[in-house]
Amino acid sequence: MLNHNHLISITDFDAKRVRAILALAHQVKKYPAQYRNKLQGKMFGLIFEKPSTRTWISFESGIFGMGGGVIYLGPEDIKLGIREEVKDVARVLNRYLAGMVLRTFSHQTINEFKKYFEGPIINGLSDVEHPCQALADFMTIEEQFGKKAKPVIAFIGDGNNVLNSLILLGALLGIDIHYATPKNHEPNLAVLEQAKALARKSGSKIAGTNDPLEAVRGVDVIYTDVWVSMGEESLRDQKMKAFKGMQVNEALLKHAKKNVRVMHCLPAHRGEEITDGVMESKHSMVFDQAENRLHVQKAVLLHLLQS
Ligand code: CP
Ligand code: NVA
Repeated sequence: MLNHNHLISITDFDAKRVRAILALAHQVKKYPAQYRNKLQGKMFGLIFEKPSTRTWISFESGIFGMGGGVIYLGPEDIKLGIREEVKDVARVLNRYLAGMVLRTFSHQTINEFKKYFEGPIINGLSDVEHPCQALADFMTIEEQFGKKAKPVIAFIGDGNNVLNSLILLGALLGIDIHYATPKNHEPNLAVLEQAKALARKSGSKIAGTNDPLEAVRGVDVIYTDVWVSMGEESLRDQKMKAFKGMQVNEALLKHAKKNVRVMHCLPAHRGEEITDGVMESKHSMVFDQAENRLHVQKAVLLHLLQS
């Protein structure tokens, strides 16, 4: 029987499951010792087609921290779909491993893999989504603002994987998200439609503009990410021109609430999408966000394996 418990897109979960995962993540963070044997005897695979610091190390540390084992396979190791077809790799690894984390260029690769693998599959970033990041972001927001609060978030920058998962999760949880992107760099259209449908149900507002000042006016949180994502290096010159004026800097922060919090999924390119001053300021919660990747992913693993 194939497992249908995956985290490939935020839309794999409803609001109830997300709330259960966030609640578990807070518990795991507070009482890590209570979870130290939960994955005993289970071996996980991490296939990463792109580099990583946070996703790789937080999954490894989290799985070891719960008594499981991990095999990391980097860009030079498995070569999904190049050395061998994805479905063949998936069927072989299915005989060895209890679950997988996949970081791929194409979202389709993960969807193809899941057809042939029984255990849970977690998207560790694709071209379309970064669901683990969004969960850690909302865990951090809950810590900062409380579980009942509905802070307004503005995302300034590229309509990329990070923004796609953020708007889906915001819409699911009833949180308003404003985003400002340059023209032709808006979020994925299909994702946007899904997010708007979720927002209609939860009563939240997902609003896009090309003007960063309009997006940040009076907001509680400003979020940004790199302008050139992994795999887009050849677009660098073009994107640097398109994103001029989209920097999260001291002047932009003045248009938000006085004690606005600043988020960045990292890695950051200081001097491009965010200034060094803002990264190091009292507004920044980027390292709490990074830490929470560990706790939320432990909760995701526990949730997917038990449900
Ligand atoms: N934020 C994030 O996913 O970082 P890595 O690319 O280092 O894993
Ligand atoms: N949008 C970035 C996120 C990195 C965590 C990328 O895909 O490279």
